[in-house]
Amino acid sequence: MDELKKAAAAEALTLVESGMRLGLGTGSTAKIFVDLLAERMKREGLKLIAVPTSEATRLQAESLGIPLTTLDETPELDLAIDGADELDAQLNLIKGGGAAHLREKIVELAAKRFVVIADETKEVAVLGKFPLPLEVVPFGLEATRQHLTRVIEKVGCAGELRFRMKADGTLVKTDGGNLILDAHLGSIPDPARLADALDHVTGLVEHGLFIGMAERAILATHQGVRVIKRA
Ligand code: A5P
Repeated sequence: MDELKKAAAAEALTLVESGMRLGLGTGSTAKIFVDLLAERMKREGLKLIAVPTSEATRLQAESLGIPLTTLDETPELDLAIDGADELDAQLNLIKGGGAAHLREKIVELAAKRFVVIADETKEVAVLGKFPLPLEVVPFGLEATRQHLTRVIEKVGCAGELRFRMKADGTLVKTDGGNLILDAHLGSIPDPARLADALDHVTGLVEHGLFIGMAERAILATHQGVRVIKRA
């Protein structure tokens, strides 16, 4: 699988040009991209600046000598490259398996182009088998969970909302100090409708549905790399 992730990351690297302002994603595929990017920068002397989408990516990029900036200093980016947990043919995405979807969404919305890199296992006919990550503030948790359950049911989805736990039994905390509820929905027939409904829930900081954001997905398959462009 790592070979496929590497193939997708290598293809995305061809989109990078000297002088660009980049958004760097989070997760195992994005990590490979950041490694390859650092290698190419050294080899070709590329001049770039980048905004990381998580503390993990920030640490990785720093250790590799990639110059970093923030969205305060650089509010507009040329290109963001990131993985996904699921994607469909319309390039609707589920993200947040690494609990980083809030910063990922902010960074990727700030980019003129957002490109997804993934192996073929991430492509699905209907989103939702992967539990939908919901980042919630710690205040009022049970009320927010019940509110979210009602909103999700109202748009025709259903399933358990479970707090994401670490192996030691404590709650996962995001880089922003919030918690993650994973919505085990099984299938999301209308992702845009669910995203819109979730956008109105107070206490939910951000959900992991990325609708109409990705310009293309670079999918690595055993038959080679396939590009899906958004219509
Ligand atoms: C991080 O929060 C996610 O949105 C990642 O982009 C996603 O989990 C993909 O990770 P992998 O590349 O490890 O599958």
